Amino acid sequence: MKSGKSERFSFYSFTLLPVVFLAALLVGGLFLISCTGAQPTPTPPAPTPTPAPTPTAIDAAKLFATNCAVCHGEKRQGISGLAPALTPTSLTKLSDAEVGSTILKGRSNTAMAGFEGRLSSEEIDALVQLIKRTSP
Ligand code: HEC
Repeated sequence: MKSGKSERFSFYSFTLLPVVFLAALLVGGLFLISCTGAQPTPTPPAPTPTPAPTPTAIDAAKLFATNCAVCHGEKRQGISGLAPALTPTSLTKLSDAEVGSTILKGRSNTAMAGFEGRLSSEEIDALVQLIKRTSP
């Protein structure tokens, strides 16, 4: 039977000490990592996205305001003695194609001039959708 004293000695010196040593290494290592590895790397500021005016993004309301409102009114209500209203209600008798060709070719012998060459067919389509589908 071994003496308790020598057993305790061997326990501390050969089992506990290496464990303590490893634990100290681990804690020290983690501390080092937290100091160096976790440094926030300065990220360059993200380039601000400039909204490039793409030809597909047509702002029909803006087109109307710049090209049509002067005669047909800001709110498409029409201007008495100048030009008729351009609303889904006022345009029920005209098909999309007729409205489109009116914008493209104009109406002869009236103030309504054609926008051929000034507006693209996509822009005219957008205007047709605006005045035939949306209420002012
Ligand atoms: C210089 C004034 C003027 C401008 C600018 C103008 N119009 Fe006209 N527009 C008229 C007049 C006047 C008429 C009525 C023609 C007639 O008597 O048939 C008319 C008629 C129309 C009609 C037919 C309406 C109907 O009930 O028969 C449409 C559609 C139309 N315009 C769309 C437009 C659009 C879209 C624009 C802008 C891109 C525009 N117009 C710009 C004067 C103008």
